[in-house]
Amino acid sequence: MLGAMTVTTDWVKDHRSRAVALRRVVAAINEKGGVGKTSITANLAGQVAATGRRTLAIDLNRQGNLSRDFGIRRTPQDDQGAALRSAIVEGTALQVAPDVRPNLDVAVGGSKLEDLTLTITMLLTRGDFHEAYLKLAAAIAPIAHEYQLIVIDCPPESPVLDNLALAAARWVMIPTKSDDGSLDGMELVAQRFQQMRQINPTMQLLGAVLFATGTNAKAIHGKVRKSVADLFGGEDKSPLFQQHIRHAERVAVDCREMGMLVHELKEYAEQQPNYWTAKRSGLNPRPMSAALDGLATDYLNLAKELLMVIAQSEQRGAQA
Ligand SMILES: Nc1ncnc2c1ncn2[C@@H]1O[C@H](COP(=O)(O)OP(=O)(O)OP(=O)(O)O)[C@@H](O)[C@H]1O
Ligand SMILES: [Mg+2]
Repeated sequence: MLGAMTVTTDWVKDHRSRAVALRRVVAAINEKGGVGKTSITANLAGQVAATGRRTLAIDLNRQGNLSRDFGIRRTPQDDQGAALRSAIVEGTALQVAPDVRPNLDVAVGGSKLEDLTLTITMLLTRGDFHEAYLKLAAAIAPIAHEYQLIVIDCPPESPVLDNLALAAARWVMIPTKSDDGSLDGMELVAQRFQQMRQINPTMQLLGAVLFATGTNAKAIHGKVRKSVADLFGGEDKSPLFQQHIRHAERVAVDCREMGMLVHELKEYAEQQPNYWTAKRSGLNPRPMSAALDGLATDYLNLAKELLMVIAQSEQRGAQA
């Protein structure tokens, strides 16, 4: 494990040192909006933290949806991205919202990130391409050793912020729906992935995750698998995660409204009195979707698969 370190410009420019410090950083990225980046970041981070592994979720979005998913929106922990912005732009030590769940901290996003794209763009026009894009990496690096997993929730349609995330990430995960628009968004990520490898040569594709899909839609899953393989070449053997996230809109809406992760809503539902018993007793219970258990299982299995793929890849790296 790496100790805390002072991040100098030279250190940040050395990609081997960066790769060691940031070895557990995953970017959840797709240029297309609404493909599950935030839902997957929140639920994966929550599931991994629930196994006892220290986890950090980073929200690069000015909407701050991740705070909503964790139920901390408009609470004292919600600084609307002020600390994250200051760490990226001014180089101050990154202050996270601690213990949002046991073992889970959050670098909160929100409206204070509004001008981040412009600020980074100005730095790019002024000078060093590497230094500008490595600003998020430099912000995360001093605290990265505290976490076993760090997941970055990337914004849609924001090439500059996506590049910040790709310069900081060891691993890339691409949530996608099966429609052509989402696959086009994935194609843009593939191009960006190649460009940013100039700065971050050790970055690797973990795979795409099919989001909000029918559980038995084998032909559709096959089409997405082929698109991912075509886009990312033969280099990566398992371009599509085996586990997909099923369509369960009602559960998703309930979770966001209640500020609960899917597995938390499942546990909450299990503790409630039976719906019909409660109704007969004159209470007004909230009916839970039948898809709740299945969706919680999807996220649990996705978290296991993610940790397994990272561990296997790290083992291969250690043997090489
Ligand atoms: N399993 C699911 N099935 C169907 N809809 C879902 C599911 N999970 C989440 N949703 C809904 O899908 C929408 C998009 O999800 P999410 O916000 O995670 O995507 P995103 O890629 O982060 O979007 P954006 O690009 O706007 O940041 C949300 O309205 C959410 O409630
Ligand atoms: Mg989002």
